[in-house]
Amino acid sequence: MATQPTKVAIIGAGTIGLSFVALHLMKNPNCTVTIYDIRPDLKEYMESKLPELLVDADVKECISRVSVADSLAKAVGEANIVQEQGREFARFKQSAWTQIEQHAPEDALFWSSTSGIPASEQSKYMKDQTRLVVVHPYNPPHIMPLLEVVPSPSTSQEVIDRTLEYWRSLGRVPVLIRKECTGFVANRLAFALFREACSLVAQGVVGVEDLDSVVQASMGPRWTVAGPFKSYHAGGGEGGLESFMDKIGGTVQACWNASDEDVKAAGLVVGGKWEKDVCRQTDEAYGVVDTAERDLKTKAVLEAVSR
Ligand SMILES: NC(=O)c1ccc[n+]([C@@H]2O[C@H](COP(=O)([O-])OP(=O)(O)OC[C@H]3O[C@@H](n4cnc5c(N)ncnc54)[C@H](O)[C@@H]3O)[C@@H](O)[C@H]2O)c1
Repeated sequence: MATQPTKVAIIGAGTIGLSFVALHLMKNPNCTVTIYDIRPDLKEYMESKLPELLVDADVKECISRVSVADSLAKAVGEANIVQEQGREFARFKQSAWTQIEQHAPEDALFWSSTSGIPASEQSKYMKDQTRLVVVHPYNPPHIMPLLEVVPSPSTSQEVIDRTLEYWRSLGRVPVLIRKECTGFVANRLAFALFREACSLVAQGVVGVEDLDSVVQASMGPRWTVAGPFKSYHAGGGEGGLESFMDKIGGTVQACWNASDEDVKAAGLVVGGKWEKDVCRQTDEAYGVVDTAERDLKTKAVLEAVSR
C-alpha cells in the first residue's frame, strides 16, 4: 500500500498528530499529508516542530508533501486515510466522525488515535459504523513501532485488513486487539508496572532513580528482545513456562498478594496523599526530560535489535 499514492488527512496535530505526520512522511514516500487543527499558530508550530521529528530524512522534501486545510471538510475531501488525534472527549470525536463521513471519499479508512474512547462509542452517531477503527500508538509513533488496532464489534474485516496492511507495508508493528477493553493492552501493561513502581516508592522501599535503574538494567533491555511470556518460558529451562510456574509460582503468587495488600494499605489511588511526594522526588531527580535524547537512544536500540 505504501507503494501507491496515499492522501492522509491528519485531524489534530498536537503531540501525537505531528508525530504521525512525521511517520507517514518518512516511511511512505508516496504519501501527501493534509493537516487540520484549530490552533491559531498552526503554521509556525509546524515549521518549528516538524523538522525536529524528521530524523535522518530529507526535511525539505518531506515538508514539500505537507499542506494545511482551513476546514475539516476540505482536509478529508480527497483522503484515502483520515487519522484523528484531537481532544480526548467522546463528544468531540463523535461529532468529528459524523462530519468526516459526510465529506470523505467512500473508501477512505477512518482511524482514531484515542487512548481510551473505544470505536464503538466514537462511531455511535455515524451512518456507517463499519468504517471506524482505533489505531492506538505508543508515544511517539514516529519512533515506537507498535500500533494497537482495536476494532469495534461493527468494524468491517476489510477495514481491519487494509489497516494492518498499510502499517505492515510501512514496517511498523500493528497488533490486532481482539476485544475492546479499558486502556487496550499496552497501557494496561505499562500502568500495572507503574502502579507497582509508585507503590514501592511510596512505601520507601526504593527511590525513584533506583527504581528506574532496576527497570533499565533488567526487564527494559530484555523486553526489547523477548516479551514476558517468551522470557519466562525461557526462564523455565527445558520445561518452559510450566516448569517456571512450578519452580517460581509460589513467589509469583506471594508478589501478587503483596501487591494487592500494599496498594490497599498505602491508599494508592490517583490523587491520593502519596502522589505529591512521588512527583516531587521524580522532579528533583530529572527536572525537564530531554525527549530528543530519549528518542535518539530508543531509535538506536530498536535498530540494534532488528539486525
Ligand atoms: N500523548 C500521548 O501520550 C498519547 C498516546 C496515545 C494516544 N493519545 C491520544 O491522541 C489524542 C491526542 O493527544 P495529544 O497528546 O496529541 O493531545 P494534544 O493536546 O497535544 O493535541 C490535540 C490537538 O488537537 C487539536 N484540536 C483541538 N480541537 C480540535 C478540533 N475541533 N479540530 C481539530 N483539531 C483540534 C489541538 O489544537 C491540538 O493540537 C488523544 O485522543 C489521546 O488520547 C495520546
